[in-house]
Amino acid sequence: MTASPPFGMLAELTHRCPLHCPYCSNPLDLVRRDRELSTDQWRSVLTQARALGVLQVHLSGGEPLARRDLPELVSHAHGLGCYVNLVTSGLGLTHQRMADLAQRGVEHVQLSVQAADEARADIIAGARAAKHKKVAAAAIREAGLPLTVNVVLHRRNHDQVGAIIDLAEELGADRLELANTQFYGWALRNRAALMPTRAQLDAAEPVVRAARRRLAGRMEVVYVLADYQDRLPKPCMHGWGARQLTVAPDGTVLPCPSAHVITSLEFDNATERPLAEIWYESSSFNAYRGEEWMREPCRSCDRRGVDLGGCRCQAFLLTGAAENTDPVCALSPHHGLVERAVVPVVDVPFVMRG
Ligand code: SF4
Ligand code: FES
Repeated sequence: MTASPPFGMLAELTHRCPLHCPYCSNPLDLVRRDRELSTDQWRSVLTQARALGVLQVHLSGGEPLARRDLPELVSHAHGLGCYVNLVTSGLGLTHQRMADLAQRGVEHVQLSVQAADEARADIIAGARAAKHKKVAAAAIREAGLPLTVNVVLHRRNHDQVGAIIDLAEELGADRLELANTQFYGWALRNRAALMPTRAQLDAAEPVVRAARRRLAGRMEVVYVLADYQDRLPKPCMHGWGARQLTVAPDGTVLPCPSAHVITSLEFDNATERPLAEIWYESSSFNAYRGEEWMREPCRSCDRRGVDLGGCRCQAFLLTGAAENTDPVCALSPHHGLVERAVVPVVDVPFVMRG
């Protein structure tokens, strides 16, 4: 199958982060600082990405502000003509720093929020982080940039959905993304502690609907459904190696941010192979493009062009083979794994991201 050029790139500049969120999708085996790409190597990755067709660059992590060369990388990406989005916890985002980054070319900021009140937010973040979010949001607004507030929902904050919407309004968000936890990396490790109850999910949906009506034209409210509670899988990443690539802190190039979990694949590194060659020719990017790789029941299913068999990472993590149907699908022979995982358990403590 011939791939189209990528539209976006998630540049995970570092795995270092002042927060320790138990739902983090970063790998359990985090990339250490001494293995991170240098400034010149990131510049080269950005230049190659633009030549390949990438228009949107998401500077993320970990916490991208932990990289001292962030301003330089922003200038470089902007100079190439990319739309630059900064994905941050907000810790260390002072007014001065935000003004400088905006002047260099950051055009949008996504700010994570852990809960509606400071005490609970700090417990979830494993750090005294909540008070910094207000400073960061004010700095983003003062710089005149659009602000998206990102909240990962789970059992310990789901009952706060209404209050979280109020907080996002107070912070001046243009967009609020309420995303039920997707179980990869640290989130999978903490699945039992994070899994929302059916009652929480049922209670949240009317609250979100009412907020959408009330805030129409002022703040967009996006609600990402709880994957495990659905009977149909999501068309993950809009297809494997279809629209976006991820570059990990050490230069590993991935078809999706969680692809490192698929240990049956070998991933190339941007320091060893040109990005365009990796995108078009590598075995990892071509592994699940198109439909040839599909097994039954996807292979003969009418929905295979709609949901593309769901998520390859989830299929691998839960069944041991990425070619299998995502077990979220009720037609999957492994669907019982998901049904058993959504049964509420007695509260267990979080394992904080290390
Ligand atoms: Fe989608 Fe495969 Fe399930 Fe059909 S069998 S609905 S293609 S995941
Ligand atoms: Fe990797 Fe879904 S998260 S394909």
